[in-house]
Amino acid sequence: MSIDYTSLAATIASLTEGETDTVSLMATVTCEVHHADDRFDWTGFYRVVAPELLKIGPYQGGHGCLVIPFSRGVCGAAARTGETQLVPDVDAFPGHIACASSTRSELVLPVWNDKGDLLGVFDIDSNQPDAFTQEDADQLTAILAAAFKNAA
Ligand code: SME
Repeated sequence: MSIDYTSLAATIASLTEGETDTVSLMATVTCEVHHADDRFDWTGFYRVVAPELLKIGPYQGGHGCLVIPFSRGVCGAAARTGETQLVPDVDAFPGHIACASSTRSELVLPVWNDKGDLLGVFDIDSNQPDAFTQEDADQLTAILAAAFKNAA
């Protein structure tokens, strides 16, 4: 299944318009993205809650680990570097944290507001190898920037 990003972006924009609460935005984005594509087996946010520390936020799928330091895993790498992590094979990523043994590939995007505060990371896991494309990364980056621009 190929995702219709134009429609997804429009739906999220209409649902989140005027909302600035970070957790409410995370819950809404997670729900809409997760159900938009059957490549997505776990979809959710980790929030920056202290210096160098992520904790689980709203998600869809099986349980996720609760705490991830910036020094660990794919999520930690995205938070630490501020760069999107597109991982075609999680077994080849040093320090990957396996919350579910079924996960084969992963896409993690940093999330900022327009003041430049790092709010957290958005993590999508797939049970298919090499499930994510650069187009997924680019389109989701734009969706996140629009949804979280005024988040506090
Ligand atoms: N795989 C992630 C951890 C989060 S879970 O997969 C839900 C990582 O290595 O950061």
